[in-house]
Amino acid sequence: MAEDLVIPVAASKKEKYEALIPQIKGLLHGETNLIANMANVAGALKEGFDFFWVGFYLVDSPDQLVLGPFQGPVACTRIKKGKGVCGATWEKGETIIVPNVDEFPGHIACASASKSEIVLPVYQNEEIIAVLDIDSDRLDEFDEEDQRFLEEVLQLFR
Ligand code: SME
Repeated sequence: MAEDLVIPVAASKKEKYEALIPQIKGLLHGETNLIANMANVAGALKEGFDFFWVGFYLVDSPDQLVLGPFQGPVACTRIKKGKGVCGATWEKGETIIVPNVDEFPGHIACASASKSEIVLPVYQNEEIIAVLDIDSDRLDEFDEEDQRFLEEVLQLFR
């Protein structure tokens, strides 16, 4: 049985990640189903930080991502390789931080409330199988600290 997450209130972002990551590792421990694990990662990050939108887009064909487990408002279903922040992250194979989505050429606006985002590639056996997309309704929400901790979470899918 999954236990309630324990998230320190009034903690810094770093303290929240440090509290949350061991719990995420515990949640995924012993479970190999990708969808179940992505669903719990999205749920834990949404609950821990109250980000506007947290979810995965899965590689569905050589040139398309399809919406996977997420938490937040309904979102675009399919994204082509190279398109938007998600498609660009997949194409590059590297994390992209967007402080202001209005300044990212080709940004795909699934929700007008989204102001900044971070998208990270999810690797398994040296191949990208998905991207993790996190959107905030505040400008400039994400930095290298988020990147470092989120990349640690995504190591769980390797
Ligand atoms: N903004 C993303 C699309 C996905 S939604 O924000 C949930 C992009 O530009 O790829």
